[in-house]
Amino acid sequence: MSDTPVASRDLPATSLLNRRTFLASSTAAALGTTLTGRAASSKPSTMPVTRSAAPKPLIVSTWPFGRAANDKAFATLQAGGNLLDAIVDGISVTEHDLANHSVGIAGTPNAEGVVSLDACIMDGPTHKCGSVAGVEGILPVIKLARAVMEKTRHVLLVGDGARKFALANGFENTPMPVPEELERWKAWKAKQAAAGPGSAPPLSHDTIAMVMLGANGDLAGGCSTSGLAYKLPGRVGDSPIIGSGLYVDNDIGAAGATGIGENIMRFCGSFQVVEFMRQGAHPRDACAEVIHRIQKKHPAGVDLAINFLAIDKKGRFGGAGTSDGFVFAVTHPGSSQVVQADRVPPRH
Ligand code: GLY
Repeated sequence: MSDTPVASRDLPATSLLNRRTFLASSTAAALGTTLTGRAASSKPSTMPVTRSAAPKPLIVSTWPFGRAANDKAFATLQAGGNLLDAIVDGISVTEHDLANHSVGIAGTPNAEGVVSLDACIMDGPTHKCGSVAGVEGILPVIKLARAVMEKTRHVLLVGDGARKFALANGFENTPMPVPEELERWKAWKAKQAAAGPGSAPPLSHDTIAMVMLGANGDLAGGCSTSGLAYKLPGRVGDSPIIGSGLYVDNDIGAAGATGIGENIMRFCGSFQVVEFMRQGAHPRDACAEVIHRIQKKHPAGVDLAINFLAIDKKGRFGGAGTSDGFVFAVTHPGSSQVVQADRVPPRH
């Protein structure tokens, strides 16, 4: 019951460093610089992750693929875009990434071979949010979530209704799953038929959650996923649920989640992280504290596969997860890196 297999699959070898060490992602190593031309070391750095405030604008996203999303979001801000433009542009990079099998175009289908996508966006200054769940054949769903926020009086649209809204608002039909994912689903289906009813589907998946502190001190965030691999049709996880997969309070900070949605949404995980920051906790400690609190409700030794990241109004950031391989991308003027999160192992 862990994100770890997918995390490991997606991680560059250099990611498996001691925690609290910076490392450059393999993309940065290949490029030598970030997309915005800022310095990125081609070798893993031994610089400790700071607990101090980072320069603004500050963008933090889950997993190594978050770095390309951060770089795009940073470029959008540099070009004069606002925070919501940056969230949409950044997460859209991940949604269009054919190498990513847990978000967007190449997302893993549900048990019936259908890809259904979830996303949400939240704007700190207005405390408005938009969300879509169970959307089929539409990209980018992060942009669709923004359209729900800005063009309707609702927060959450689901399924056919969300799709109709998308088509009526200029989004085009996008065929999914991609052939590779269709073949993998067929193989899973055949294996499941052979194993008989009750055989468990894999739980591997990842989510992009992005939180951002603008140069003027405002906050925003977004989240996007195809959810659990081979989930039951109709299943929705934490990612599009405000307070679970994402929460932003413009006075305090912002938090996002990745992992097994069922274990995050039962506790309004991201909301709790922000509330701990409201009480004065550093973002890293707030993430860990929520995991401790959730773990106490479960038998010892259970890995709940929950991971959080957060930033506060001061520009401090951090992350913690039950998964050994949980890393997140941190981007601000002069630096774009992938960072190892604190590990909060199952209690014993
Ligand atoms: N965390 C994403 C999901 O469970 O759907």
